[in-house]
Amino acid sequence: MLDRREVMKAMGLTAIAGVCGVYPAIATGQSTQMSGSITPYTVPPLPYEYDALEPYIDAQTMHLHHDKHHAAYVKNLNAAVADHLELSRLPVVDLIQHLDRVPESVRTAVRNNGGGHANHSFFWQVMQKNSPGQPKAELAKAIDARFGSFSGFQEQFTKAAMSVFGSGWAWLSLDDKHQLSIETSPNQDSPWMAGRTPILGIDVWEHAYYLKYQNVRADYVAAFYKVISWDFATAQYQLGIKQ
Ligand SMILES: [Fe+2]
Repeated sequence: MLDRREVMKAMGLTAIAGVCGVYPAIATGQSTQMSGSITPYTVPPLPYEYDALEPYIDAQTMHLHHDKHHAAYVKNLNAAVADHLELSRLPVVDLIQHLDRVPESVRTAVRNNGGGHANHSFFWQVMQKNSPGQPKAELAKAIDARFGSFSGFQEQFTKAAMSVFGSGWAWLSLDDKHQLSIETSPNQDSPWMAGRTPILGIDVWEHAYYLKYQNVRADYVAAFYKVISWDFATAQYQLGIKQ
């Protein structure tokens, strides 16, 4: 029976064990029990009802996004790692942080589908019903220091979300020098893959908004601010600055 530390050691990951503390706030649905049998990745349940984010994010979109799109990433990820027991035992963020350790034959599948699983597991939690609207305490101070003000942050984050060509994400992330940045990623790539901690992220794939907003991404991005869970973002920030 191998525990997680032993699996990581077998993959040569002991040297980076310290960076693995940046994601415990994320529910990925994956069992933490290392029983010796393959523990497939699973879709975590939404932390709220499907209609909880109405009128900003509609229930039908949430059903399709969570039950179909996220489920497809998980199904395809499990297929990709089915013949690689050592991979299937790793938390999904460990997996995508070290794609160079993933066999080339399944690397693209793990990047796209492991990325999709990690990003969506994060995304469900970065939203909530009755959002407080703005960050508080230490994250609010850090945002003000970096972007001048909350509205300064909003302006830059919106610009980033609107700039993604095709499918991808916009993020507020923290680097290893504890500097906040706004960045974008194509497809299902993420700050994790570059060694940074995501604090906040918006999915700007059309499947995230097309049913309600059609091609008007700007309205969807504006609505996203109404559902941000700043408590979750703050928890991510607190984890990041401990690294
Ligand atoms: Fe999505």
